[in-house]
Amino acid sequence: MKIVAVTSDYHQKVFDLIKNFSDQYVMLPKSIDEIINLADSFRILVNENSDVIACAMLDQFTDELAEVKSLAVDKAYQGHGYGRLLVSDCEAAARALGIKRLFALTYEEKFFHKLGFQTVSMETLPEKVYRECVRCHYFNNCKEIAVVKNL
Ligand SMILES: CC(C)(COP(=O)(O)OP(=O)(O)OC[C@H]1O[C@@H](n2cnc3c(N)ncnc32)[C@H](O)[C@@H]1OP(=O)(O)O)[C@@H](O)C(=O)NCCC(=O)NCCS
Repeated sequence: MKIVAVTSDYHQKVFDLIKNFSDQYVMLPKSIDEIINLADSFRILVNENSDVIACAMLDQFTDELAEVKSLAVDKAYQGHGYGRLLVSDCEAAARALGIKRLFALTYEEKFFHKLGFQTVSMETLPEKVYRECVRCHYFNNCKEIAVVKNL
């Protein structure tokens, strides 16, 4: 298992992994075009057969604030530390950029608590609300929980 860059070989596989979960409404969908445009921000875990078994991306909002997005681990590979590994990798990249607060919006609050994140009010993340949430289909009915880790 290794973390690799999202080259063109992997665009469809990342799309399929995310779609599997977005179809179940546990994460937001990403189009192939979005995955291609955001490829540099993604990190993926691939197995010896080049299957994409997990993905995550780091989205920088300001000099000090970034979000872990599109975190997904293939169901067959969950519970083996791969989610933690990818969030840790995003965290390391965020630290290298000088980010002070790393956040996520999630239904998996307890998973993020295990990784040192704390639940916060959305009001502490106006950058996210005004850049993205206000345009989101679920804005007035959002059930996601905001979690933050101070780096
Ligand atoms: C949430 C998700 C990323 C976790 O990935 P994972 O690889 O299964 O998690 P890990 O094996 O790295 O777990 C790390 C720790 O969190 C715990 N954990 C994982 N999922 C958990 C959950 N749903 N509730 C409570 N604890 C959880 C593990 O037990 C482990 O704890 P330990 O170190 O004490 O053993 C994965 O279940 C997933 O892809 N879910 C579907 C998509 C999704 O909801 N993504 C999140 C979008 S923000």
